[in-house]
Amino acid sequence: MTVQTFIPSRDEAASENTVHQPLNTSDLSSVKKLYIETQGCQMNEYDSHRMADLLGDSHGYILTQDPKEADILLMNTCSIREKAQEKVFSELGRWRKLKQQNPDLVIGVGGCVASQEGDNIQKRAPYVDMVFGPQTLHRLPQLLDQHEDQHKKPKKEKIKLVDISFPDIEKFDFLPEPRVEGHKAFVSIMEGCSKYCSFCVVPYTRGEEVSRPLDDVLAEIASLAERGVREVSLLGQNVNGYRGETFEGDVCTFAELLRLVAEIPGIGRIRYTTSHPLEFSEALIECYRDLPQMVSHLHLPVQSGSNDVLQAMKRNHTIDVYINKMEKLRKIRPDMHLSSDFIIGFPGETDENFAETLQFIKDLDFDHSYSFIYSKRPGTPASELEDTIPETVKKERLAQVQKIIKRSSIDKTDAMKNTIQRVLIEKVSDRDPHLLVGTADNTRYVTFVGDASWVGRFAEIEITEIKTLNLVYGELLNLEPDVA
Ligand code: SAH
Ligand code: F3S
Repeated sequence: MTVQTFIPSRDEAASENTVHQPLNTSDLSSVKKLYIETQGCQMNEYDSHRMADLLGDSHGYILTQDPKEADILLMNTCSIREKAQEKVFSELGRWRKLKQQNPDLVIGVGGCVASQEGDNIQKRAPYVDMVFGPQTLHRLPQLLDQHEDQHKKPKKEKIKLVDISFPDIEKFDFLPEPRVEGHKAFVSIMEGCSKYCSFCVVPYTRGEEVSRPLDDVLAEIASLAERGVREVSLLGQNVNGYRGETFEGDVCTFAELLRLVAEIPGIGRIRYTTSHPLEFSEALIECYRDLPQMVSHLHLPVQSGSNDVLQAMKRNHTIDVYINKMEKLRKIRPDMHLSSDFIIGFPGETDENFAETLQFIKDLDFDHSYSFIYSKRPGTPASELEDTIPETVKKERLAQVQKIIKRSSIDKTDAMKNTIQRVLIEKVSDRDPHLLVGTADNTRYVTFVGDASWVGRFAEIEITEIKTLNLVYGELLNLEPDVA
């Protein structure tokens, strides 16, 4: 699955923004260390943070960035495409060597491959100690205790530690409060997906859509805001399918949730990912009209620009539905940056179908978007379809799509010159203490001269120079008062 951060890792600014900050472990040699490898989407990134919080609280583990010095290695896996799945076993092979050197090393596999494969993981990689799914990661401390008990037992008395059940939304009740790093935070508002697109494994690996109760979401965001968070990203496979239960037992929709989040003191910016075109409601569009905290940036996967392909994918909407909604949105927000996901070479995609996708991408004028060659996933309805498109044709089509989107992203960055951008100031530059680094609505990094005490505030910056696709320079026009 995509890592929906829109930041190529080679970018200097992005490399300053690693997810798991290395801790200074020089004086902590006796503390047990945890290494987590995260593959896939932002839901997995979120879950990995929660795993670290959990094992930190329950067993005192601290994160390390070096698998060689870890006491426990966890892999949070992705099965969205075959390539991602294969990566799991090649990486586990490397971890096996570490275990040969240190027999006490604990290896755990979580995430969507774990959910799909269950105890097959240990059949293929018997040195794996624990297998857990996306919905059971909160049981990691117990799994680890069980493992420690087992470790002392003779081999034949050992049982396999596999827990890949779907215990409804229990997960959120057992997670500690998220730790805060910086001024941006991710908050999971729902789990799973009930859309069953014909190509996709998510409904099977993460289960059906379940929304987190409204008060839990609001309390978590309020607490984050009190601790300095100014930008919140609401996470879920289909956030606009959110149906959170209220305290009174009513149902709160996604648009209603956005309005409540916008009222929380301190929250100056709201993002969300991912949403589905079908549930992109009028009420949601109106949030862009009424709530200044909503960014002028939207990632809305469409997958194809051809109605025939959309139908075969069971996306349950036509291209016109998508176009009409985006036209309405752009009427309200003419500066809206729109990004999307595309699957190329879906079984039966003809030259005409593909030409429609190309035209659609040009018409909608997408910013940074993700495109993938279709990957047949076992157990999905599309895996029954005959795949007759030659590999070379798929690759050629993918290259065409990526070329157009790249060109359009470059043009969008170039067009920022001499514009005024609202920026959340995130940090002092690693390179120069006089420079600050922030992000614009459209996810580009903005660097400008400023004072370290401004970090965590919003500012209006005039863009003066375009450095790379994702990095621009500017000058301060106005520093907003802290929104708390
Ligand atoms: N919830 C999102 C999708 C999440 S999966 C939605 O509304 O569409 C992330 C992306 O992975 C999808 O948008 C799709 O483009 C891609 N993807 C999913 N299954 C795939 C497959 N079998 N082959 C290739 N790409 C796939
Ligand atoms: Fe997958 Fe479609 Fe849901 S792409 S995550 S089944 S909306």
